[in-house]
Amino acid sequence: MFGIVDVAVVTFSTLLLFFWRLLDKRSPPIFGIYQRENGLYWLKVLFMYTALSVRKITNKAKKKNVETLESCQKLSEDGKAIDAVYFNGANGDGDHLVVGMARRKNLLVDGFILLKINSSGLGVLATPKMPSTSLYKEEDNEQHAAEGIRITPIDNMKKYSLKYEGKLKTYGASKEDTLYDVKIDAIWTSDLPYFSFDTDMDPYRLASDMAFEPWSKSYFDTLEKMHQTHYEQFGSLTAKVTINEKEFDIKLDTIRDHTFGVFREWRMFKRYGCHWFTTADGDHFNVSKICCPVAFSRLTAGYMYSKKYQKLYPVTECDLELYQHGSFGNPPEDYAFTVKAGGETYTVQVRAKDTPKFFISKDWEAQIFENLCNFTVNGTKGWGAAEWQYRNIQGKEILK
Ligand SMILES: *[C@@H]1O[C@H](CO)[C@@H](O)[C@H](O)[C@H]1NC(C)=O
Ligand SMILES: *[C@@H]1O[C@H](CO)[C@@H](O)[C@H](O)[C@H]1NC(C)=O
Ligand SMILES: *[C@@H]1O[C@H](CO)[C@@H](O)[C@H](O)[C@H]1NC(C)=O
Ligand SMILES: *[C@@H]1O[C@H](CO)[C@@H](O)[C@H](O)[C@H]1NC(C)=O
Repeated sequence: MFGIVDVAVVTFSTLLLFFWRLLDKRSPPIFGIYQRENGLYWLKVLFMYTALSVRKITNKAKKKNVETLESCQKLSEDGKAIDAVYFNGANGDGDHLVVGMARRKNLLVDGFILLKINSSGLGVLATPKMPSTSLYKEEDNEQHAAEGIRITPIDNMKKYSLKYEGKLKTYGASKEDTLYDVKIDAIWTSDLPYFSFDTDMDPYRLASDMAFEPWSKSYFDTLEKMHQTHYEQFGSLTAKVTINEKEFDIKLDTIRDHTFGVFREWRMFKRYGCHWFTTADGDHFNVSKICCPVAFSRLTAGYMYSKKYQKLYPVTECDLELYQHGSFGNPPEDYAFTVKAGGETYTVQVRAKDTPKFFISKDWEAQIFENLCNFTVNGTKGWGAAEWQYRNIQGKEILK
């Protein structure tokens, strides 16, 4: 009954399974969180690299049109639905403006402003509810607007209006907060391409990071479920700012992003560290390390715009490891890393000047440190911010 071929097949499969099991032995993750490579690592990288390269091509073919992407999205039925826009700007004079507006269910907007005009001498100003970021809309509509902040697209992928009228308070410098009457009237413009996390990430980088994780059907199901559309664009923000009747005109190199998806659960994110910066040479970077243990314990994401080549390049390597920085809950304020993109390596030095922190979402699920920074990139001066997130398990009890 059994031919020589059957015996060979059975023996071969048994051997294969044996070696597979042998190679699939895992060392415990670093701090119980950050997965390490095992014997199957390179096989997994190869497999995933092939799969992602194919997906990249098919995703490109069905790229959403710009109008659909840019419009304010209808929130999904999920209680954690999200549609978020975000602006983060800085310049060489030490000025900063960070504005986040994430539309959630039940009129909630996870929203905030951080403003620093160096020449005002006032330090960092912030929305009065800080460290809370729960703002509420007055009516249910599809606009990124609440409590005096309003962000409106004017021309898709080219022009946005950003306005604020209300109070801002001094934040973090002293125990007593002072309130100021603030008006911000700003226009963001860009003629640079945008970077989509669906189609423009480096497949080899992504494959390498996925290969750290133990794979199973539920692992891939989770990845599928968590998917959010996320794209970003560098541009320039010109703002007229009035603080207690005193006027300031500022111009900031400003990254903006738009994220939407069926749901965002901040509880899934253990930590991340995002760096975005512009150099005096006109290069722009966004480099992130993300630890979201159910999907990626060590994801490297990011890209750079090279002024010299007038082109966007995905980040292919970055040697910053989350577990080597701020693991007790305080992000680093003076450090460095290297990042590779477009075949070039850049050495990046980071120095935090101001370190305002706050909590995101209704139950304060996450704590964010929005560090306003100086950068030095291969000896060239730069400016921007480093955003470090930590899961906040205590919720609002943390301040009790
Ligand atoms: C910001 O202002 C301080 C003085 O308040 C000054 O020492 C510093 O040089 C300024 N920073 C920049 C980047 O101009
Ligand atoms: C930088 O990229 C990360 C994703 O890697 C994103 O979450 C973050 O919002 C970006 N930073 C800015 C300032 O847009
Ligand atoms: C930046 O500096 C590093 C280390 O000195 C060097 O290897 C790299 O080639 C430099 N990159 C650029 C773009 O000049
Ligand atoms: C960075 O910031 C610090 C603190 O504000 C300042 O003293 C220093 O001159 C800045 N460095 C650069 C390179 O801008």
